[in-house]
Amino acid sequence: MKKNSTTAKLYIDSLLDKNGVVVLPPMDASESMRLMYLLGYHPQMTMLDPWYNRGTGGVREDYVPYILDIISNISDNTNHLFLWGFPEIVAQFINKIPPPLEFVCWLTWYYKNNPSVIRGWRSSQQACLHYAQKKAKMYPQNFFNPQQQLRFEESNMRFIPGPTSVIEEPLLVGFIGKKEQTGHPSQKPEKVYEKLVLMTSMENDLIYDPMAGGGTIGAACKTLRRKCIMSDMSDEYVKLIEKRLKIKRIPLKVVDDLLLEVA
Ligand SMILES: C[S@@+](CC[C@H](N)C(=O)[O-])C[C@H]1O[C@@H](n2cnc3c(N)ncnc32)[C@H](O)[C@@H]1O
Repeated sequence: MKKNSTTAKLYIDSLLDKNGVVVLPPMDASESMRLMYLLGYHPQMTMLDPWYNRGTGGVREDYVPYILDIISNISDNTNHLFLWGFPEIVAQFINKIPPPLEFVCWLTWYYKNNPSVIRGWRSSQQACLHYAQKKAKMYPQNFFNPQQQLRFEESNMRFIPGPTSVIEEPLLVGFIGKKEQTGHPSQKPEKVYEKLVLMTSMENDLIYDPMAGGGTIGAACKTLRRKCIMSDMSDEYVKLIEKRLKIKRIPLKVVDDLLLEVA
């Protein structure tokens, strides 16, 4: 590792040890992923929750190749990857994620409390595709109660009572989840993210989210004692993350020096 990357890594490591969570200055997800690689960070899990190609964030003709291009920067550097979106959008990705990631499962987040704004089917679900490398572990035991944990440790368990692939949690809207609402237009509930974190990691593992929005992943990681690196392209949303998690972003100079060094 070169001089600036060693300094930057030591600096970020010290913040991860102190706060558990780190937010980078505003940057594009591809650049953030490149940075992770340069710094030698290999996330146990990467959360990818882009704009949904409808409504907020606009519509892109090239949405699928655009997202695939972003993912190609992390596919061999993360053990697990979750890709979020509306079902009809993520369905286009099922067999397209680059190796060594392999498709694991289609997850559904189901909510009943979406206020109806159209004449037609009222949207009540988002989809999340789970991909993982062959060697990547899953941890259903993180969901056990103490009795189940004991039986599991004694290898005395016939069925593993893992979590279901449909996660039911209300949408953060109105008074629902008021305490965690940051003002970000597409913020997910912490409880939804906690399940994904528990299934794919153990305490102190590194979780990464380069489209972190209102910082939900950081809040979930604080609760569950995982380390977390976040970034987002928007200065406004990085400010939300700083406020929510009571942290300060990594100074731009640290990142610029590092990128200059490898240019
Ligand atoms: C759906 S929101 C994420 C919400 C987040 N999961 C939460 O719970 O708060 C999508 C986020 O991705 C960010 N984003 C979109 N395209 C990006 C890109 N190419 N690079 C970095 N961030 C991007 C947006 O600024 C937005 O905050």
